[in-house]
Amino acid sequence: MTIGVPKEIKIGETRVSMTPSLCRHCVSLGARVLIQKGAGLTAGFSDAEYRAAGATLVAEPTKVWRAADLVLKVKEPLPAEYDLLQEGQALFTYLHLAAGPELAKVLLKKRILGIAYETVEGRDGSFPLLKPMSQIAGRLSIQIGAYFLQSQHGGSGVLLGGIPGTMPGHVVVIGAGNSGAHAVQMAAGMGARVTVLDLDTRKLEALDVEYRGRVVTLISNPANIEHQVADADLLVGAVLIPAAKAPTVVSRRTVSRMRPGSVIVDIAIDQGGCIESIRPTSHKQPVYVEHGVVHYAVPNMPALVGRTSTLGLTQATEPFVAMLVRRGVERALAEHEGLAKGVNTRAGQITYPAVAAALGYG
Ligand SMILES: NC(=O)c1ccc[n+]([C@@H]2O[C@H](COP(=O)([O-])OP(=O)(O)OC[C@H]3O[C@@H](n4cnc5c(N)ncnc54)[C@H](O)[C@@H]3O)[C@@H](O)[C@H]2O)c1
Repeated sequence: MTIGVPKEIKIGETRVSMTPSLCRHCVSLGARVLIQKGAGLTAGFSDAEYRAAGATLVAEPTKVWRAADLVLKVKEPLPAEYDLLQEGQALFTYLHLAAGPELAKVLLKKRILGIAYETVEGRDGSFPLLKPMSQIAGRLSIQIGAYFLQSQHGGSGVLLGGIPGTMPGHVVVIGAGNSGAHAVQMAAGMGARVTVLDLDTRKLEALDVEYRGRVVTLISNPANIEHQVADADLLVGAVLIPAAKAPTVVSRRTVSRMRPGSVIVDIAIDQGGCIESIRPTSHKQPVYVEHGVVHYAVPNMPALVGRTSTLGLTQATEPFVAMLVRRGVERALAEHEGLAKGVNTRAGQITYPAVAAALGYG
């Protein structure tokens, strides 16, 4: 099997889908690994390290895509990469197709076997390849929010932790899953006043026990959301309905009631976002102001910390990549139900029901 690792081209992306260590593992299992020159540089891995791990370095992305049976990536293919996809090729990456109807059309037309990191399942029904990036995005959401709350960055000038004698900032996190729980951890660690809302009472119970009353947990319903968001200095959107378009949990009207200079970080933007006034931004232009509120909605937040993110991502993907190499793609999918759950497109069909429903197929 030939694995192709192209350099990521999304704005500001710094991650790479394979470390030299994963490369060495794949080569030891008999794979040929083609890596685009410079693909690992922004994550701190040199071409020489990949060469030493047994990879063949290729200057042209076209050559990487053309020769690969399996393309291993981080982000979904962008329009500039659509022509590089080879008919019938296997692609293992984040796809987020519910928010990408154009890409879905291309994958179907080219009959791509699209295995999405975000829907691969663990034995317990969890999403092991989404988890590390969600943890990173959750932690980053608070440091990003704190940055944009600063007066010089268009914010209200609130210091999240406050100082003795002043009110700390109020952080409201909607969604208490992987990203939400890590946002809560960072916000509480900074000394902010933290409120977290979720539909799942077990998640709220766990946080209540962990923080012993230092964090307010609330059931997610329109009344609680409206009330808390209107008082938030920093609002973090962290909800997920697996593979589906994110539900809109905060209306434009509620956003317009926030204090001027408050900040929204919508982590769920990769699934379309969960705030009515949100639209995707990029690392080049990460924020815009609407209703006096600073909106941040970068779909690839973990790229801000390319080294940690690459290590976190590849330690999660490694067992699945190894399965694909050891058994071959089709046998690996037949033998491992959790890996097979990652298949979103195959032979011109959308095979993941929530994605098909979100895109209006079948
Ligand atoms: N922007 C980025 O760079 C980036 C990075 C990583 C992950 N993400 C995205 O972040 C989102 C969250 O991922 P996660 O791993 O934390 O998901 P998760 O499944 O661990 O948690 C999602 C939580 O949302 C809750 N939820 C669903 N509907 C809700 C509602 N109406 N109100 C309140 N809570 C609700 C669920 O009960 C669950 O606890 C996903 O869209 C994921 O793709 C984005």
